[in-house]
Amino acid sequence: MTWSDLLPFMGLTIRCGELSLSAMTPDDIPGLLAVADRGIVPECSGYPFITDWALLPTEERNANSSQFYFGVWSRFSPEAFELLMVVREGEQIVGAQDLRALDFAIRRTGHTGSWLGREFHGRGIGTRMRQMVCAFAFDELGAVEMRTEAYADNPTSNRVSQKTGYVEFDRARVTRLGELATEVRYRLTPESLNRPEEPIEVTGADALRAYLGI
Ligand SMILES: CC(C)(COP(=O)(O)OP(=O)(O)OC[C@H]1O[C@@H](n2cnc3c(N)ncnc32)[C@H](O)[C@@H]1OP(=O)(O)O)[C@@H](O)C(=O)NCCC(=O)NCCS
Repeated sequence: MTWSDLLPFMGLTIRCGELSLSAMTPDDIPGLLAVADRGIVPECSGYPFITDWALLPTEERNANSSQFYFGVWSRFSPEAFELLMVVREGEQIVGAQDLRALDFAIRRTGHTGSWLGREFHGRGIGTRMRQMVCAFAFDELGAVEMRTEAYADNPTSNRVSQKTGYVEFDRARVTRLGELATEVRYRLTPESLNRPEEPIEVTGADALRAYLGI
């Protein structure tokens, strides 16, 4: 028996060339947290996350993140899902991509968040994985809009959104770790998506659709 026999949403894999996004399972936690431990945030960027998880000492981050992942899996439902995915280049884990939605069957709107180990930045992987998850949401889940946010002082994330075809529609004054920050909000429609040149292959989408009731 595998994790996807128990939890069908864990059977999803999206491939494009050497890159794959696979629904995360508990077995992926140690490998992913080892990448996080080697560093995520580039020097050119403000701190990119809502919580301080990337700043924590290793042991604390490992425990907090593991509990966070199990919490996400325990709450996964058609009304409020967060699909955690591990990003691999070949066999190598390079980072994480998520896809979240509320009442997706009705709203057909997905949100994404992602990170890569710093050692893998600047090679187009961040853009490719965003293109892949958006193409998957539009083509396989019937999304009509994708949204994402980035702090204004995170040039790489803003650039990835713009390259993928998102359009900025709002800026908000938000709190980041107790201080004021500007959040840039983007949305993307299927017609505006800049797709990767190589074809995208998906396995496990039927089981996910059935689980989500779409
Ligand atoms: C955001 C992230 C996933 C992007 O991944 P990546 O693989 O480095 O991104 P890509 O290589 O596909 O594209 C990066 C783009 O940013 C540009 N960029 C990099 N540094 C920049 C800077 N200081 N100013 C302006 N643009 C910059 C690159 O030139 C590239 O654009 P180009 O292709 O037009 O030249 C990665 O940087 C990351 O994990 N950051 C930390 C976590 C994070 O910010 N997550 C997002 C939270 S909203």
